[in-house]
Amino acid sequence: MDNSPELDALLARLDTGASRDRISAAADVAELEVVERDLLGRRSGAREVREAIKGLDPSERPVAGRALSSYEAGVREMLAERATALAAAAAGEAGAAERLDLTLGGHGLNRGHHHLVTQVQRELEDIFVAMGYAVAEGPEVEDDWHNFEALNFPPGHPARAMQDTLYVKLGRPEQVMLRTHTSPVQIRVMQSQPPPIYCVMPGRTYRNETLDARHSPVFHQIEGLAVDRGITFGDLAGTIEAFTSAYFRTTVPTRLLPSFFPFTEPSAEFAVGCVFCEGSGCRVCSQTGWIELGGCGMVDPNVFAAVGIDPEEYSGFAFGFGLERMPMLRYGVNPIKTFFDGDIRFLSQY
Ligand code: DAH
Repeated sequence: MDNSPELDALLARLDTGASRDRISAAADVAELEVVERDLLGRRSGAREVREAIKGLDPSERPVAGRALSSYEAGVREMLAERATALAAAAAGEAGAAERLDLTLGGHGLNRGHHHLVTQVQRELEDIFVAMGYAVAEGPEVEDDWHNFEALNFPPGHPARAMQDTLYVKLGRPEQVMLRTHTSPVQIRVMQSQPPPIYCVMPGRTYRNETLDARHSPVFHQIEGLAVDRGITFGDLAGTIEAFTSAYFRTTVPTRLLPSFFPFTEPSAEFAVGCVFCEGSGCRVCSQTGWIELGGCGMVDPNVFAAVGIDPEEYSGFAFGFGLERMPMLRYGVNPIKTFFDGDIRFLSQY
C-alpha cells in the first residue's frame, strides 16, 4: 500500500542530513543551544510533525511516530557528540592560553664530569680489574697500628720520619692520624680475608708537607697487593710493566732500583722510561731518561706475622704510587696544586 501524500510530506520534513549539517556548523556551546531549540524545541519542525501525526489516517500514524522517534533520537545523539567536541576544544584553548614558555635561553647547560684524579683512579682500577684484581678502600683517619706498626715500623723507628705525619687530636697523643699512605689498607685487606689476595686500594693520603711544585699536603695513592703461593719478584716486575703499558697505551720500559721500605724485603723503587723524550733525556726526567713512579717489593715476613698469614706457605708483592703523577705525566699537568685548586678552567679540559 502506498503512503498517503500527507505522510510523505511529514516524513520529508524529518531530514537527518540537514540537521547534522546545522549541528556541526555550531561554533560554540551557545550556538549549539540555539540549534537544539530549532530542531527539537516547542516551535520546531519536529514538534509540528508530532502535531500533524494526529491528522493522519490511524493506519499511518505508527509509521510516522516511529520515523519521528528515530529522527529525534539521532538528533539528540549528534547534539551530545558536538557538545563534547566543543567542550574539549574550549578546554584545549584555555590550556594554550595559560601555557608558560619554559624554553631556556641560548646558554647551553653545563654538565659536570669527574675530576681528573677520579678519572685516573677509575682507569687504573679498570686496568687492574681486567688483570683479576679486586678494589678495596680503607679509612682516611687511621690508627698508629695500621698506618705504621703492622707495616713493620716499630715505635721510634727512624723510617717513620720518612713520612711527616698529621696527627688527629683523638685518644692518646700521636696514636690517631690522617693516613700517610694507602699501605694500611693492605693490612685491613689481609685481616679481612685469607689468601689468595689480588687487590688494589686507591685513596686520599695526607702528609705534613709544604706545598711546592711536586708536593702537596693532600694527594692520592693507589696501592697494590698480591698474596698467593709461589709469588716471586718476577711477578712484581711483570705486573708493573703490564699496568704501566696499559695506562700509557704503549709498551713503556720499566726499571727497578734497590730501595728501602720497612714493609717490603727486598724493596725497590720503580720507574718508567720517560714518556716525553723516550729515554733520550729531557727537562721532565732531569736528563735521566727515567721517571720515578713509586715503591714496591716483596711483603716482609713481619707484616705477614702481624696479620696472621704464614710466610712459609705464602709470599706476596706490594706496590704503591701517587695518582696525581700519572696525569702529570700524560698531560704535562704542573704544579701538583693544580689538581686541588678547583679551577673550572683547568678541570673542564679533561
Ligand atoms: N707506602 C709507600 C709510600 O707512601 C709506597 C710503597 C712502597 C707502597 C712500597 C708499597 C710498597 O706497597 O711495597 O711511600
